[in-house]
Amino acid sequence: MTDLANDPLGGLPDKRQVAASFSRAAQSYDSVAALQRNVGQQLLAQLPAAISPVRWLDLGSGTGYFSRALSERFPASQGVAVDIAEGMLQHARPLGGAQQFIAGDAERLPLRDASCELLFSSLALQWCADFSAVLIEAARVLRPGGVLAFSSLCVGTLQELRDSWQAVDGFVHVNRFRRFEDYQRLCAGSGLTCVSLQTTPETLYYPDVRSLTHELKALGAHNLNPGRPGGLTGRARMLALLNAYEQFRQPQGLPATYQVVYGILRKG
Ligand SMILES: C[S@@+](CC[C@H](N)C(=O)[O-])C[C@H]1O[C@@H](n2cnc3c(N)ncnc32)[C@H](O)[C@@H]1O
Repeated sequence: MTDLANDPLGGLPDKRQVAASFSRAAQSYDSVAALQRNVGQQLLAQLPAAISPVRWLDLGSGTGYFSRALSERFPASQGVAVDIAEGMLQHARPLGGAQQFIAGDAERLPLRDASCELLFSSLALQWCADFSAVLIEAARVLRPGGVLAFSSLCVGTLQELRDSWQAVDGFVHVNRFRRFEDYQRLCAGSGLTCVSLQTTPETLYYPDVRSLTHELKALGAHNLNPGRPGGLTGRARMLALLNAYEQFRQPQGLPATYQVVYGILRKG
């Protein structure tokens, strides 16, 4: 067995909940997706200069912003956008970019073997509990010489929020993220050639905690983990959270760190 048999990230939310949450967020997502734009642009900039795909796949395409960017970059290519959230696909379809918009799961791609030369995925794969399955699927659908370009998130993401909740209670209030070392190990064992894999922190600043949590909700990326507390957050616990987060305050505001992973892999 390769390392791919051992992807330790447990406890991610149920996929139906992920799909429902992103479907609900389809209308609000673009208005709050500044970091997602920036990360996707950086991923686009990392694509090998010589690449010229006949067919590309935008995996976890969301509102389709990067499907449209890919169609501009590769005007002669055919594009396929795949997302698990039907609401995102409904939002993206009329805006174009891809020729096909298909509901599907990154861990079980609805594509034929060796059917595309580029698999682009920005900030979607952190939602996949089984990253090894994603890599196996990428290796299956890419043609020889094809490229997997992904961005994702690893441990360290929303650490300030996690630490602040930790000071309040023992519940899981922040989504779990894979360790960067696990991305390294799984990519190295995938059978794909790892051209580059790196992680870099991005920090956003907010005037208060509510602005951050509202933004996470508008993105569809708020906490859905099993183990999260049920019901509304009580006033006393919310006040304790606000106090705890204040310890991180900087002149620019309350920081929220995203530990972004960028990977470029090639099929042999
Ligand atoms: C943060 S959004 C990113 C959207 C887009 N790539 C962008 O950069 O703006 C994450 C997207 O991944 C999708 N997603 C989450 N889990 C998925 C899975 N297992 N398979 C396919 N798409 C998934 C969500 O529905 C959502 O649209």
